[in-house]
Amino acid sequence: MSRFLQFDNVAFSYPGMAEPLLRGVTAHFPEGAWTGIVGANGAGKTTLLKLAAGALAPTDGHIRQIGSARYAVQRTDAPPDDWLEFMDSWDPPAMDARALLGVEPEWADRWDTLSHGERKRAQIAAALWRRPDVLALDEPTNHLDAHAKGVLLAALKSFRGVGLLVSHDRDFLDEFCSQCLFIFPPRIVMRPGGVSAGMAQDRLEQTRAKEQHDSNAGKARRLQAAAQQRREAAEQSAARTNRLKRKKLPENDHDGRAKRQLAKLTNKDGWGFSQSAALRTRAAKLLAPDAAIRVDYEMGFWLEDSGKSSRNYVAELPEGEIDLGDGRTLVHPTLTIRPDDRIALVGDNGLGKSTLVKKVVANANVPPEKLLVIPQEIGEEESQAIHADVKRLDRVPLGRVMTLISRLGSRPGRLLASTTPSPGEIRKILLARGVERGPHFIVMDEPTNHLDLPSIECLENALAETPCALLLVSHDERFLARLTTRRWQLTQFGNTIRLTMGSSIPDRT
Ligand SMILES: Nc1ncnc2c1ncn2[C@@H]1O[C@H](COP(=O)(O)OP(=O)(O)OP(=O)(O)O)[C@@H](O)[C@H]1O
Ligand SMILES: [Mg+2]
Repeated sequence: MSRFLQFDNVAFSYPGMAEPLLRGVTAHFPEGAWTGIVGANGAGKTTLLKLAAGALAPTDGHIRQIGSARYAVQRTDAPPDDWLEFMDSWDPPAMDARALLGVEPEWADRWDTLSHGERKRAQIAAALWRRPDVLALDEPTNHLDAHAKGVLLAALKSFRGVGLLVSHDRDFLDEFCSQCLFIFPPRIVMRPGGVSAGMAQDRLEQTRAKEQHDSNAGKARRLQAAAQQRREAAEQSAARTNRLKRKKLPENDHDGRAKRQLAKLTNKDGWGFSQSAALRTRAAKLLAPDAAIRVDYEMGFWLEDSGKSSRNYVAELPEGEIDLGDGRTLVHPTLTIRPDDRIALVGDNGLGKSTLVKKVVANANVPPEKLLVIPQEIGEEESQAIHADVKRLDRVPLGRVMTLISRLGSRPGRLLASTTPSPGEIRKILLARGVERGPHFIVMDEPTNHLDLPSIECLENALAETPCALLLVSHDERFLARLTTRRWQLTQFGNTIRLTMGSSIPDRT
């Protein structure tokens, strides 16, 4: 029997939500194909995957699913529920999955010290192990270096079930997906092809809908003018009729002619008024908001108050070694970051980039409020604390933060009402609060993970303009090429990881 997943008019709300997060979702997910799920941070992508995998139940509508399902989570905080069972298993699917994604036997006992890229690979391997009929992957390329991404591509290509994929990686979605579900509330639309084809189709539909709307507005204006003319004519005529009514009927109106004439005039006036009202109703229908037209909120922000620190260095680290565990050591020369340095820190998964970043941050030489740090992962508890903190802000600073959230493409109202902000939403909060303080030194560890595409573009534009120091960790070469001028490269030699410095990005365009 062919396997599939079908959503029929599905709606979902988290408890306490005034408006449903998702509504009217009707979509078919076929076997042997990947469907991309696309939408802004907080749009409900993770929620949709959880519904697909049966981890959440719809509040309305119906989900038909044949076979088993597995959801591979977006966060990398915790190991999969069956982590140890998976690592201890010697059945061929377990061995295949571990080999396919390069999961090492010794990882079993050290989840806490695995890098986030390694954790991501481990989570996906454990999900593949059960050979589920429906596989829902939530941002699987986050944290992965180029090699690991290639490995993941090969692993996913061999999957034959119903695949659902949330990703902000356009190339990855284009390569994989035969259809994409676009969550642009209130509309949720399935389009054939990858994300680029779907976005092009969306732009075309938006242009057509707006043109239709403009043409309707023109017609409505003409109808309103005609309605006004009819009304004025009817009013003048009604005034004449009233004058006649006030006059006495002629004495010799034996056959009632004058009376009938008066009634005719009254009817004509009434007809004129109802014609005018009908024209107005037609105009109002043409002007009714078209659900197909998205409200495009203005996006983009600038780091207006950021500046160059007047100190010689914004961070200074004497040469040293960092113990990475398992007998591995990261060796680095003296590291200095000048007030206008723009540094890319690169290296494969697990070489200690985040550990080094933490050491740099601990040695930062700027006042704490002038340091903006976006860590690689923000745990669930910490996210809740950051969120609660924002909700306590006074009206004016809260307004400023929420304006920025809106300019980054997420809906402030929903974020304030939420009890569990999504990973993208929480990054936008951190960013907004840091921008407010006019930073002198910005440190971002894989900032493009979790952020939706439009907000990555906004972030890139803002960082390109800022005069302050930057230290950016990313696997996104295009992002680094645009924003940085110096490179710190981590490379492994046996158990030693060395940091070498380059003066520029080799493939800078
Ligand atoms: N358990 C929950 N209770 C209440 N609100 C929640 C809960 N989980 C998520 N939300 C809210 O629901 C909305 C959708 O969340 P979801 O995690 O599905 O978004 P997403 O599209 O996956 O976002 P991202 O791109 O950042 O991962 C968000 O506004 C979020 O704050
Ligand atoms: Mg999500």
